[in-house]
Amino acid sequence: MHITVLGAAAGGGFPQWNCNCRNCDGVRKGSIRAKARTQSSIFVQPDAGADGVLFNASPDILEQIRAKPALQPGRQLRDTAIAGVVLMDGQIDHATGLFMLRERATPLPLWCTDPVEEDLTQGNPVLRVLSHYCGVKRHRIALDGMPFEIPGVAHLSFRAMPLSSKAAPYSPHREQSVAGDNIGITITDERSGKKLFYAPGLGDITPAVFDAMASANGVMVDGTFWTDDEMVRLGISRKHAREIGHLPQSGPGGMVEWLDRLPPDTRRLLIHINNTNPILDEDSNERATLARHAIEVCEDGMLIEV
Ligand code: MLT
Ligand code: MN
Ligand code: ZN
Repeated sequence: MHITVLGAAAGGGFPQWNCNCRNCDGVRKGSIRAKARTQSSIFVQPDAGADGVLFNASPDILEQIRAKPALQPGRQLRDTAIAGVVLMDGQIDHATGLFMLRERATPLPLWCTDPVEEDLTQGNPVLRVLSHYCGVKRHRIALDGMPFEIPGVAHLSFRAMPLSSKAAPYSPHREQSVAGDNIGITITDERSGKKLFYAPGLGDITPAVFDAMASANGVMVDGTFWTDDEMVRLGISRKHAREIGHLPQSGPGGMVEWLDRLPPDTRRLLIHINNTNPILDEDSNERATLARHAIEVCEDGMLIEV
């Protein structure tokens, strides 16, 4: 399968519009070696040139589509390579781009869990608003581990698992998480049997999550924060990484330790990187640590074959 990273940053993007942290200021001024990134999304195709699946609809979707001609194949007057959209959660950075796809002539094929549909119908009623435009044809993502397919996307099958992370602040279950607020997905190429495990928001690695990671050929997982108190120490938020559903990379029980336990030939990729994360600075010690552990940092436009 052919994976395109459309946006590798967490909510806010990099640089974030109102932020002058070392990273945001540094990338604007060119005083650090770092690349700007748009908000979290990937596009997965069975093969280059085929129609595929958009994972998450970022507020930056229009810019992402313009940057990647593969998403606009130009076969007819109105066209897209996006055969369907899958949401990993109902947060702003993953769902508000749905508004930008409203000019379709037919309802947008959308896969999400029940709690995410609820959040996008109530707390942030994107789906109700869209009903005044193209509308959506919503398909329920079940959490029973059964594979599903997406019509128009050949050879790929998808399996969701609930993750411990966090629903959006406008969700009725922000403080009492329910299964399906956040999911991870294993994408299988049925021709080769190769698998990608994708989880941009991952707060805790349970045995079931680790099993899914260990049976994949590539993992693309939560790269939001390097340390739990990253935003607190910078004085820009009172929130710790774990409180908002993101497992930090460093320290005991952190993502780096987990990734070290995967089979040696598993491709390890971090995505959904917050603008405060020191790994964005390509000359940082933290980035060098990742390199020593064979962990890659996603950037916009990156192509991955699994
Ligand atoms: C998150 O994953 O925690 C979100 O990106 C936060 C946000 O969009 O504000
Ligand atoms: Mn997010
Ligand atoms: Zn910043």
